[in-house]
Amino acid sequence: MLEISSITVRFGGVVALNDVSARFDKPVNGIIGPNGAGKTTLMNVLSGFVQPSGGSVSRDGQDLLRLAPHRRAHWGLRRSFQKEEIADDLTVFENVLVQIDNSRTPMAEKRAEVERMLDLVGMAGRAGKIGADLSGFERRLTDVAKCMVGKPRVVMFDEPAGGMSVDESRELGALIRRIHAATGAQTLVIDHDVELIREVCEDTLVLDFGRRIAFGPTADVLADPKVKAAYLGTEEV
Ligand SMILES: Nc1ncnc2c1ncn2[C@@H]1O[C@H](COP(=O)(O)OP(=O)(O)OP(=O)(O)O)[C@@H](O)[C@H]1O
Ligand SMILES: [Mg+2]
Repeated sequence: MLEISSITVRFGGVVALNDVSARFDKPVNGIIGPNGAGKTTLMNVLSGFVQPSGGSVSRDGQDLLRLAPHRRAHWGLRRSFQKEEIADDLTVFENVLVQIDNSRTPMAEKRAEVERMLDLVGMAGRAGKIGADLSGFERRLTDVAKCMVGKPRVVMFDEPAGGMSVDESRELGALIRRIHAATGAQTLVIDHDVELIREVCEDTLVLDFGRRIAFGPTADVLADPKVKAAYLGTEEV
C-alpha cells in the first residue's frame, strides 16, 4: 500500500497541494483534476523533485520522503513523463537495457528481462529499431518497458495518452493494466482522458486547487457531484 498523508506543497504564495491524503492499495490508481490542480506536483513529491512543507509518503513501511531521489529509483520508483525519454541513437533494446545498466544482475539475466518486457509491451519484433525511427506510440511503448524492468514497486505516468489516437490510448490502457501482474508494481496514472482513467484505474484521487475533493472507486468518484462541478466548463466527465 502506498500511503500519502497530509502532503502540503507551497510555491511562494501558491498552495499547490493542501493537506492531501490518500491510501492507494489497488494495482492501478488514477489522479485527475482540472489544470493546475496539483497532480504533477504530487508526482514530483513522490519522485523527490519537490519537497513538501509537511506530510509523509510511505509504501509498506518504507518512508519514501527520507530517500534521496536516486535512492528512490533504486528502491523501485519509476516515472514516465509526458514526453518519453528515449535516446534517438540507441535501439529499443538498448534504451530499455540502459535502465538496469547499474544493477549487479548478470548480463544474461538482464537481457532476458529486457526481452520479456519488450514482448509484453508488443515491441519484441522492433527491438533493433533505433529511437530516431520510432513513431510516437512506439516511443511510448518503449518507455513503458523501461518502467517495467528492474523490479519496480511504484510506476507513475503523467498524461501517457497525450496526443494518441483512441485505439492507441485503449491499447496503452490495456498495457498499463498488465504492469501489476508482470512486475508486482502499483501504478499511478494522471490523465485528462477520463475514459482511459475509467477503464484502467480501480481507485481514483481527484484534486482541485490543491485539495482532495474525492477519492475511492473510480466509477463512484466520477459520479460525484463535487467532481462534476470541478470539471464544469473545463472537461466532460
Ligand atoms: N515549480 C513551480 N513553481 C511555482 N509554481 C508551481 C511549480 N510547479 C507547479 N506550480 C503551480 O502549482 C499548481 C499546481 O501545478 P501542477 O503542475 O501540479 O498542476 P497539474 O494538476 O499537473 O496541472 P495540468 O493538468 O495542467 O498538468 C499550479 O498553480 C502551478 O502553477
Ligand atoms: Mg500536470
